[in-house]
Amino acid sequence: MQLDVPRYTERFGAISLHGVQRVYELDSGFIDANSASEALRRIGNEQIFQIERKMAIVIPIKGERLKLLEGVLSGIPHDCLTIIVSNSPRQPVDRYKLEKDSLEQFNRFVGKSSLILHQKDPGLSDALREIGYMSIFDSDGMVRNGKAEGMMVGMLLAKMAGKEYVGFIDADNYVPGAVNEYVKIFASGIAMSNTPYTMVRVSWIYKPKVSESGLYFSKWGRVSEITNQYLNSMVSYYTGFETEVMRTGNSGEHCISMKLAELLTYSSGFSVEPYEIVNVLEEFGGIIPTENQEAMDKGIEIMQVETRNPHFHEEKGDVHLKEMFNGSLGCIYHSKICPPKLREKIIEELRGKNVIDEGQIPDLLQKISPFKNIEISQFSKILHSRATSFAYSG
Ligand code: GDD
Repeated sequence: MQLDVPRYTERFGAISLHGVQRVYELDSGFIDANSASEALRRIGNEQIFQIERKMAIVIPIKGERLKLLEGVLSGIPHDCLTIIVSNSPRQPVDRYKLEKDSLEQFNRFVGKSSLILHQKDPGLSDALREIGYMSIFDSDGMVRNGKAEGMMVGMLLAKMAGKEYVGFIDADNYVPGAVNEYVKIFASGIAMSNTPYTMVRVSWIYKPKVSESGLYFSKWGRVSEITNQYLNSMVSYYTGFETEVMRTGNSGEHCISMKLAELLTYSSGFSVEPYEIVNVLEEFGGIIPTENQEAMDKGIEIMQVETRNPHFHEEKGDVHLKEMFNGSLGCIYHSKICPPKLREKIIEELRGKNVIDEGQIPDLLQKISPFKNIEISQFSKILHSRATSFAYSG
């Protein structure tokens, strides 16, 4: 892959927040040769392959169409470990079984390694309870519903498998070639980073919508533009300089090095992606004390890379739009580093969008604790013996 070196970087404490980088060539050949220009980096296929071998791709899924899942599976590079964490209904039709059958059939044909697990498996809750990792539980002692919760279980499985990088790709993507590009972007970002504490976020070139006059290639999602604006304001309040650096506040497609992933606190449901940024600012921004001095010393890099492929995914309509606004701006509002003036603006924004009523504040969502210190071998032992939905192939 051949892509921009970061042209612009916002520095915030120990964090380097790089501006969006473009992809010039999806495949730039085998050799890590110099690029034609010093403004570009060429990441050879061999280097990408070496990183993919150490990477797990987590696919959170809840009741998506199987044809879409099958397409996503086909787009993931062979050497990555695929991990599906499902919260699909098991009755009246066992959708999870269909997903597992599809995955197993795919693996049989291509000879690939994969893990699959249901989020609500009582054996999973047992394993988490026994290692004392319960911030992910609902009041019934089972893993909560939510995309973040699915991602979190996926991260634990990736750690259990000894992976160094974990990427996330939604199950409802219509274009397998785009999925493949996301993973190449993840690997290229990792190859370019200068620290073991790295996050690579995908910025979609277009998110097309069907309109009366045909396809309309819009640039922004309805929520992401607003989320980015408030994340940028948060940075600007501290630096004193307005910035537009953050462009991927809601990006579901992203990758984190395990060393960084296990230090972060995660926010429930669909607020997970913006809160990753908020939590990085909280932990490593130098505003409040942190226990992670080694990461502070080595530095944190956040890269944002614009795709060549447009993002075609299943449109779920406006149903959870208000929930997304509430969660995305709410996690900024409730941050311990959110300046009071920004809190006032968030309230105005949410009231203007009829997301909250007069006198209300955004919901304070549940948080999931860092997993650096968990007993992963104990977790693995109990999971293997008690989680009946858990399957491994490869
Ligand atoms: N395991 C699991 N558990 N997966 C879930 C759950 C859950 O409770 N809820 C949703 N998912 C899966 C979906 O099946 C899909 O694969 C992925 O999570 C994203 O969910 P969607 O319902 O498709 O979300 P969206 O399209 O509205 O929003 C996506 O894009 C946003 C940016 O535009 C998500 O990725 C958001 O997180 C992202 O901010």
